[in-house]
Amino acid sequence: MIELRVNGQTVSVDVEPDTPLLWAIREEVGLTGTKFGCGIAQCGACTVHVDGVAVRSCSYPATAAEGSDIVTIEGLGSPQAMHPVQQAWLEIDVPQCGYCQSGQIMAAAALLAETGNPTDDEINTAMTNICRCGTYPRIKAAIRRAADLT
Ligand code: FES
Ligand code: FES
Repeated sequence: MIELRVNGQTVSVDVEPDTPLLWAIREEVGLTGTKFGCGIAQCGACTVHVDGVAVRSCSYPATAAEGSDIVTIEGLGSPQAMHPVQQAWLEIDVPQCGYCQSGQIMAAAALLAETGNPTDDEINTAMTNICRCGTYPRIKAAIRRAADLT
Protein backbone atom coordinates (compact mmCIF):
# COMPACT_ATOMS: atom_id res chain seq x y z
CA MET A 1 0.00 0.00 0.00
CA ILE A 2 1.16 3.51 -0.74
CA GLU A 3 -0.49 6.87 -0.22
CA LEU A 4 -1.09 9.22 -3.11
CA ARG A 5 -2.36 12.79 -2.95
CA VAL A 6 -4.73 13.15 -5.88
CA ASN A 7 -6.63 16.38 -6.48
CA GLY A 8 -5.97 17.42 -2.89
CA GLN A 9 -7.15 14.18 -1.31
CA THR A 10 -4.92 11.52 0.18
CA VAL A 11 -5.85 8.01 -0.89
CA SER A 12 -4.32 4.64 -0.08
CA VAL A 13 -3.71 2.50 -3.12
CA ASP A 14 -2.62 -1.11 -3.44
CA VAL A 15 -0.03 -1.25 -6.22
CA GLU A 16 2.98 -3.26 -7.31
CA PRO A 17 6.34 -1.44 -7.36
CA ASP A 18 6.10 -1.05 -11.12
CA THR A 19 2.39 -0.24 -11.43
CA PRO A 20 2.00 2.80 -13.68
CA LEU A 21 0.44 5.86 -12.08
CA LEU A 22 -2.27 5.72 -14.78
CA TRP A 23 -3.66 2.45 -13.45
CA ALA A 24 -3.45 3.59 -9.84
CA ILE A 25 -5.50 6.65 -10.81
CA ARG A 26 -8.04 4.81 -12.93
CA GLU A 27 -8.44 1.50 -11.12
CA GLU A 28 -7.54 2.24 -7.51
CA VAL A 29 -8.70 5.85 -7.17
CA GLY A 30 -11.53 5.42 -9.70
CA LEU A 31 -10.88 8.57 -11.73
CA THR A 32 -11.36 7.62 -15.36
CA GLY A 33 -10.91 10.99 -17.04
CA THR A 34 -7.24 10.13 -17.60
CA LYS A 35 -7.09 7.91 -20.67
CA PHE A 36 -4.98 5.00 -21.88
CA GLY A 37 -3.76 5.29 -25.44
CA CYS A 38 -0.41 3.79 -26.33
CA GLY A 39 1.06 2.79 -22.98
CA ILE A 40 4.56 3.77 -24.12
CA ALA A 41 4.69 7.52 -23.40
CA GLN A 42 4.05 8.46 -27.02
CA CYS A 43 0.48 9.75 -27.31
CA GLY A 44 -0.10 11.83 -24.16
CA ALA A 45 -3.67 10.63 -23.54
CA CYS A 46 -2.64 9.75 -19.98
CA THR A 47 -1.14 13.15 -19.09
CA VAL A 48 -1.54 14.31 -15.49
CA HIS A 49 0.37 16.82 -13.38
CA VAL A 50 2.85 15.69 -10.75
CA ASP A 51 3.94 18.71 -8.71
CA GLY A 52 2.76 20.91 -11.56
CA VAL A 53 4.72 19.11 -14.26
CA ALA A 54 2.92 17.28 -17.07
CA VAL A 55 3.84 13.59 -16.98
CA ARG A 56 2.68 10.63 -19.04
CA SER A 57 1.21 8.50 -16.32
CA CYS A 58 1.25 5.26 -18.34
CA SER A 59 5.02 5.28 -18.05
CA TYR A 60 5.44 6.81 -14.60
CA PRO A 61 5.47 4.45 -11.60
CA ALA A 62 2.81 5.20 -9.03
CA THR A 63 5.43 4.76 -6.31
CA ALA A 64 7.44 7.65 -7.80
CA ALA A 65 4.50 9.97 -7.19
CA GLU A 66 4.32 9.28 -3.44
CA GLY A 67 4.61 12.56 -1.55
CA SER A 68 3.79 14.63 -4.63
CA ASP A 69 0.71 16.58 -5.56
CA ILE A 70 -1.04 14.79 -8.42
CA VAL A 71 -3.70 16.64 -10.40
CA THR A 72 -5.92 14.92 -12.93
CA ILE A 73 -8.45 16.40 -15.32
CA GLU A 74 -11.10 15.95 -12.62
CA GLY A 75 -9.13 18.24 -10.29
CA LEU A 76 -8.10 20.94 -12.75
CA GLY A 77 -11.31 22.90 -12.41
CA SER A 78 -15.01 22.41 -11.87
CA PRO A 79 -18.07 23.33 -13.91
CA GLN A 80 -18.57 26.25 -11.52
CA ALA A 81 -14.92 27.35 -11.59
CA MET A 82 -13.33 26.20 -14.80
CA HIS A 83 -9.61 26.42 -15.36
CA PRO A 84 -8.91 28.98 -18.12
CA VAL A 85 -7.79 26.16 -20.40
CA GLN A 86 -11.10 24.38 -19.91
CA GLN A 87 -12.96 27.64 -20.50
CA ALA A 88 -11.03 28.22 -23.72
CA TRP A 89 -11.58 24.62 -24.86
CA LEU A 90 -15.29 25.12 -24.42
CA GLU A 91 -15.33 28.46 -26.25
CA ILE A 92 -13.33 27.14 -29.20
CA ASP A 93 -15.21 23.81 -29.16
CA VAL A 94 -11.97 21.88 -29.49
CA PRO A 95 -12.88 18.18 -29.08
CA GLN A 96 -14.04 15.85 -31.80
CA CYS A 97 -14.23 12.29 -30.40
CA GLY A 98 -12.75 13.63 -27.17
CA TYR A 99 -10.54 10.69 -26.30
CA CYS A 100 -7.24 12.58 -26.32
CA GLN A 101 -8.62 15.79 -24.88
CA SER A 102 -8.07 15.40 -21.15
CA GLY A 103 -4.41 14.77 -21.90
CA GLN A 104 -4.30 17.73 -24.27
CA ILE A 105 -5.86 19.99 -21.64
CA MET A 106 -3.46 18.84 -18.93
CA ALA A 107 -0.47 19.40 -21.22
CA ALA A 108 -1.76 22.86 -22.17
CA ALA A 109 -2.39 23.81 -18.54
CA ALA A 110 1.16 22.82 -17.58
CA LEU A 111 2.54 24.83 -20.51
CA LEU A 112 0.59 27.94 -19.54
CA ALA A 113 1.56 27.60 -15.88
CA GLU A 114 5.17 27.75 -16.98
CA THR A 115 4.90 30.17 -19.89
CA GLY A 116 2.02 32.61 -19.63
CA ASN A 117 1.97 33.65 -23.27
CA PRO A 118 3.72 30.94 -25.27
CA THR A 119 5.03 31.49 -28.78
CA ASP A 120 4.12 29.16 -31.64
CA ASP A 121 7.44 27.42 -31.20
CA GLU A 122 6.87 26.95 -27.48
CA ILE A 123 3.39 25.54 -28.15
CA ASN A 124 4.76 23.19 -30.80
CA THR A 125 7.54 22.01 -28.50
CA ALA A 126 5.29 21.46 -25.49
CA MET A 127 2.23 20.04 -27.21
CA THR A 128 3.39 16.67 -28.52
CA ASN A 129 0.16 14.87 -27.60
CA ILE A 130 -1.40 12.98 -30.49
CA CYS A 131 -4.96 13.59 -31.67
CA ARG A 132 -6.26 11.05 -34.17
CA CYS A 133 -9.12 13.41 -35.03
CA GLY A 134 -6.70 16.16 -36.04
CA THR A 135 -7.98 18.88 -33.72
CA TYR A 136 -4.53 20.51 -33.66
CA PRO A 137 -5.55 23.89 -35.13
CA ARG A 138 -8.32 24.27 -32.53
CA ILE A 139 -5.98 23.16 -29.74
CA LYS A 140 -3.55 25.93 -30.72
CA ALA A 141 -6.33 28.50 -30.94
CA ALA A 142 -7.62 27.45 -27.51
CA ILE A 143 -4.17 27.74 -25.95
CA ARG A 144 -3.95 31.31 -27.29
CA ARG A 145 -7.42 32.03 -25.95
CA ALA A 146 -6.53 30.55 -22.55
CA ALA A 147 -3.41 32.75 -22.45
CA ASP A 148 -5.72 35.76 -22.95
CA LEU A 149 -7.97 34.57 -20.14
CA THR A 150 -5.15 34.19 -17.61
S1 FES B 1 -1.10 6.22 -22.95
FE1 FES B 1 0.47 7.30 -21.98
S2 FES B 1 1.47 8.38 -23.57
FE2 FES B 1 0.00 7.13 -24.59
S1 FES C 1 -10.44 14.47 -30.37
FE1 FES C 1 -10.43 12.43 -31.10
S2 FES C 1 -8.39 11.76 -30.71
FE2 FES C 1 -8.35 13.85 -30.26
